Amino acid sequence: MTATARTPIVAGNWKMNLDHAAGVALAAAVAGRRSEAAGVDLVLCPPAVYIVPVAGAVAEAGGDVAIGGQNASDKEKGAFTGEVAPPMLLDVGCRYVILGHSERRTLFGETDASVNAKAKAALAAGLLPIVCVGETLEEREAGRTEAVVTEQVNGSLAGLDAAALEKTVVAYEPVWAIGTGKVATPEQAQEVHALIRGLLAGLASAETAAKVRIQYGGSVKPDNAAQLAACPDIDGALVGGASLKADDFLAIAKAFASGTA
Ligand code: 13P
Repeated sequence: MTATARTPIVAGNWKMNLDHAAGVALAAAVAGRRSEAAGVDLVLCPPAVYIVPVAGAVAEAGGDVAIGGQNASDKEKGAFTGEVAPPMLLDVGCRYVILGHSERRTLFGETDASVNAKAKAALAAGLLPIVCVGETLEEREAGRTEAVVTEQVNGSLAGLDAAALEKTVVAYEPVWAIGTGKVATPEQAQEVHALIRGLLAGLASAETAAKVRIQYGGSVKPDNAAQLAACPDIDGALVGGASLKADDFLAIAKAFASGTA
């Protein structure tokens, strides 16, 4: 199956940036110009406290733009101070949730096992998880990319059946490319994306693997998006810095729209 059978998905991970007014303005701009990236699923992932106003701005602009959380608990509710439960994200209008971002893994001690528990909780609540994997520079230079990504994919997605995997988006984000301006070459990215698709086939079947969208993330910009979009196993992007400007985010999304034309 070719990439044309999968709807590209471009998500903006705002991380801990912007304030209320700037977030609402950005969401309104993206939603208002949504038609520029027809045929691509768009997702905005604001900080949790801005999900409600951002969802409101998108609704007001009439744009078909989904909202995602940047993290979620693996618990449904209860005495977990500071946490946000998957049903709560769904309740305020989220469709997606980013899980296991490398910043969560390296700065907040998340592991494949905790990401796996979160993915199961998110799916149980009706959210679509965007599960992140990716190697560090040290791991790549030691020739361990394949081993690291294999362990992360198999561990983070363990126990998900075909139906659950088909709802899941995998984001390949080489840690050395995040926020560094150093984007993976299309060949480097495609190689790992093909590896991930093979792993998904091993977890379920080739048919299921062919349906799962695999995003690339790490210094995606308007000027490198088209090359990435042209790769057969790259089905979208998870965008950090460039998602904070409507022009850049939409230009990237547009590249993925044309990449599949
Ligand atoms: P940058 O696009 O800023 O490199 O961030 C990528 C990322 O971490 C998205 O989740």
